[in-house]
Amino acid sequence: MSRRKISIFGVTGSIGANTVSVIEGLGLDRFEVIAVSGNTNVAGLAKIARKLHAQIAVTADNQRLPELRDALAGTGIAAAAGTNALIEAASRPADWVMSAIVGAAALAPTLAAARTGATIALANKECLVAAGPILLAEMRKSGARLLPVDSEHNAIFQLTCAAGECPIERLILTASGGPFRDHSLDQMARVTVAQAMAHPNWSMGRRISIDSANMFNKALEMIEAWHLFDVAPEQIEVVVHPQSIIHSMAGFCDGTILAHLGPPDMRVAIGHALSWPERAALPVERLDFVALGRLDFEAPDPVRFPALDLARAAMSRGGVSACVMNGSHEVALDSFIAGHIGFLDMAAVVGEAMERLDGLPKANDLDDIFAVDAQARRVGRDLVKRFAA
Ligand SMILES: NC(=O)c1ccc[n+]([C@@H]2O[C@H](COP(=O)([O-])OP(=O)(O)OC[C@H]3O[C@@H](n4cnc5c(N)ncnc54)[C@H](OP(=O)(O)O)[C@@H]3O)[C@@H](O)[C@H]2O)c1
Repeated sequence: MSRRKISIFGVTGSIGANTVSVIEGLGLDRFEVIAVSGNTNVAGLAKIARKLHAQIAVTADNQRLPELRDALAGTGIAAAAGTNALIEAASRPADWVMSAIVGAAALAPTLAAARTGATIALANKECLVAAGPILLAEMRKSGARLLPVDSEHNAIFQLTCAAGECPIERLILTASGGPFRDHSLDQMARVTVAQAMAHPNWSMGRRISIDSANMFNKALEMIEAWHLFDVAPEQIEVVVHPQSIIHSMAGFCDGTILAHLGPPDMRVAIGHALSWPERAALPVERLDFVALGRLDFEAPDPVRFPALDLARAAMSRGGVSACVMNGSHEVALDSFIAGHIGFLDMAAVVGEAMERLDGLPKANDLDDIFAVDAQARRVGRDLVKRFAA
């Protein structure tokens, strides 16, 4: 049997590490690794590239190319750096490509991979939020298949496979509620980066952990689901489910709800996307319902977690509103991490950026998206100065 050609973008991150772990579990000899990418962690990137016998390793950071070259000397693995190198690596023919770069930086390489017609395992949600219609149109053109890796969307994808042709009446995204589910607004105003990163159930990268704490992650996921599953914004609901055992649900016209359950372990969604349409055995925890005892649900509080309403506003405004939301949010998040603004200021910055940039013309291509993204970041930076003052 011929080996599957795969590439992993964002291999040095949390999703990247889980992807490598799943691949090792399934047997390295079943895969031919074309490209792997990272950004700052060049030593980690070189180590993974050696382990996977990749053809090429790319760091997004041009300054780090000499270090990467040194780390790969004598291995026969090519080293490259910068955005164009990422795009070139993503354009190399592969059967399966993991898109796990964090943020809008994933957009250009993911689009390049989509244009090759590969199966795209999409962990990165910002691509769909910022440029959903453009990315999906390119995928239809090339015949690329998208397999969602975000656990909620992977869950819904599995549910839609089970439901066959039945149209979905409602999508119910579950949210853990994060570490501040029971905090007052006053307490939330004072939380630190370390506290925001301490997710109660999932072990994830820094950005998505903080995004989970103010439910920006769920807000982005609502927009992601809107693009992926052909539903109207009103059909998308969010329910807080602190145990993170139900990864999402789909409701149908006869009142049936199908739910996807599993341990909170990203290897499940990654393994599914890697083995689809089959299922491979994975060494993850098996659920014990008696030990679990109960599953709880509550409504999200729109006052303490305004990000969900921002997502609804972005969907109802349409056009590039979600791209503005994403770009200004990345700036606000970096500013929170740098200690310039408070935890609650992030949503305030994004809400005001969306107001200021309401009514921008529709994007026709990726250049339009990059222009809007740059504008959203400029406005975001201006607003951050005001909130930091
Ligand atoms: N972690 C999860 O459980 C999870 C679950 C669902 C969805 N996701 C989504 O998956 C994506 C990755 O999340 P993560 O938690 O794995 O993030 P992460 O741990 O922070 O890893 C991010 C990856 O992107 C690379 N990177 C950072 N900035 C970059 C840039 N400007 N250009 C190119 N590469 C860059 C990093 O390289 P270096 O580390 O070398 O700097 C790293 O390989 C996000 O979009 C997230 O929303 C994650």
